[in-house]
Amino acid sequence: MNTPFYQQHWQQIHLPILTQHQTELWICHLQCRVPAIAGNKWLKLKYHIQHIQQYEKTGILTFGGAFSNHLAAVAAAGKAFGFQTHAIVRHDSAVLNPTLVACQEQGMQLSFVSPQQYRLRQQSDYLTTLQQQFADWLLVPEGGTATLGVKGVAELLLHHTPAGAANLICCATGSGGTVAGLALGHPQIPVWGITVVKDASLAGKIAALAPDHRNWQLIPDCSGQRYGQFDDETLQLCLQLSEQDLPLEPVYTGKALHTLLTALSERRIQAGQRLVFFHSGGLQGLDGLLHQNRITPAQYQQIKSAELRLWHQFG
Ligand SMILES: Cc1ncc(COP(=O)(O)O)c(C=O)c1O
Repeated sequence: MNTPFYQQHWQQIHLPILTQHQTELWICHLQCRVPAIAGNKWLKLKYHIQHIQQYEKTGILTFGGAFSNHLAAVAAAGKAFGFQTHAIVRHDSAVLNPTLVACQEQGMQLSFVSPQQYRLRQQSDYLTTLQQQFADWLLVPEGGTATLGVKGVAELLLHHTPAGAANLICCATGSGGTVAGLALGHPQIPVWGITVVKDASLAGKIAALAPDHRNWQLIPDCSGQRYGQFDDETLQLCLQLSEQDLPLEPVYTGKALHTLLTALSERRIQAGQRLVFFHSGGLQGLDGLLHQNRITPAQYQQIKSAELRLWHQFG
């Protein structure tokens, strides 16, 4: 557990909009020994895994949607570290998709529930009953967003890019743990969480996870699309940046980067700054988009090849 499980890499991106505003954009990548746990996943899971090992828990019981990157990561972590995994999945059908197949292949047990039942995950009496059923298990909230998850993210150091100090740190935001951790870890730097979900409770949740920290703000995704949906501009940006060996998917990282660049073009970000974008992973999600015919095989291949080239670059 003490040997480094991931390596941190920096990648500078060049675009006319950046040059125009004398702005530098640095992407931080976390390359993980287990690819499904890359990005923010290892950071959010690290202390949960340590807890299981320390208290000899049976495994992790967690929650997620049918295409959840978090579930894919928990399943892979269970396999890699030798603990059991069980997921309550928001899924109306018995049909599996590539994410759920991968989860099952790693040994994860899946319990499908309707969207209505899934909402119960925030109710304490439901959680108490679950905890009684899974007595020796660690319950991890959706997205790994809990104190232990935030503690892991807060350890990531993004203050200094290879070119110098960061002026703004930015990440995609779903359940809020990543932005809370980045805010805790970088109290002197403004942190933007670009929201890809519409959730009125999110700000309160982050404030509770990063008490006494006021350096973060939530920025709504510029496309205005619902969670999981994306517009063509976002997909086109993912394809354009794949030519610079930056692999993005349009549900989290593509949407967030698109919003950051839009904010720059609308001068909501001062010119002449050094921006850091934390690549939170989630590239397994491309398999689900291909499976649903929401991207073409050629688009899928283009982004996957960029991913291969990126890791090859870092050796
Ligand atoms: C790829 C990706 N990026 C960003 C996020 C958002 O992170 P958080 O849920 O901590 O806000 C997630 C969800 O965990 C994700 O899968």
